[in-house]
Amino acid sequence: MTRIVVVGSINMDLVTQAPRFVGPGETILGERFLTVPGGKGANQAVAAARLGAEVALVGATGDDAFGQQLRQGLAAENIDLTHTIQLDDCASGTASITVAGGENQIIVVPAANARVTPAQVEQAQALITRADAVLVQMEIPLETVEATLRLGHRLGVPVILNPAPAQKLPIEWLQLARYVTPNQHELAILLGADPDEDFHALMQRSPGPVVLTRGAEGAWYREQGEPIHQHGFNVAVVDSTGAGDTFNAALAVFLREGLSIAVRKACAAAALSVGKLGAQAGMPTLHEVEALLAQQPG
Ligand code: RIB
Repeated sequence: MTRIVVVGSINMDLVTQAPRFVGPGETILGERFLTVPGGKGANQAVAAARLGAEVALVGATGDDAFGQQLRQGLAAENIDLTHTIQLDDCASGTASITVAGGENQIIVVPAANARVTPAQVEQAQALITRADAVLVQMEIPLETVEATLRLGHRLGVPVILNPAPAQKLPIEWLQLARYVTPNQHELAILLGADPDEDFHALMQRSPGPVVLTRGAEGAWYREQGEPIHQHGFNVAVVDSTGAGDTFNAALAVFLREGLSIAVRKACAAAALSVGKLGAQAGMPTLHEVEALLAQQPG
């Protein structure tokens, strides 16, 4: 069985579906409100588990009601929480999300996620050593992201760095990752470049291997210096929240099959994930991914 370790955030998502986004000072009536589990780390862990991997999550929740619900949800997905700490007198992370027309706007309050430490990553070394891949994102302290990249590199375990939410990082960190998986906007921020610069030029300037996500258009990566495009899959979009997380999880789970197969399966998994409201609601099983690939080959 493929073994994945995720180092990352755990949030409760407070999701409002609305006819459109609001402007400053404006009030409108929404259509629906949901409280559902999220957080980039937890989402990637759940997506990897549904795809059949054995998954452990290094993270933190608070000692509040959200924390309890979040832990129960993750345990029900068979995710190993040995290295997910529960902090006293601390709130769990939250994300206030507005969904309108299939797009989203998100404000994250990290709370407990801001206290995920490099020491926790070191303590998970035995698990990381045995892992096929490690996933890390940027809703936890940067020093913990760095510790994950360095440990994975030292142990020879591939680390996929999903640089979201993006900020400029030392070039060396990008070289420690096996793959960096930004969208165009995130890649520009990572490199300190103009966000309107052509994404091919940005990819070429990146010091490490990039798998660039393009939403409904699929993904781009480079093999032997040549840019390769994996097209997106044709699906109806309800909520794109968590699509990037599903992509990253699938990339990690299928990486052993080679980059081009992994990217293709990751695009299919991400497409399936957007069909339901809530980050984790639409995350597919392996069987569902295979069915979509059979239905829309190429
Ligand atoms: O990537 C989607 C996630 O970003 C949401 O679940 C939310 O919690 C934020 O972390």
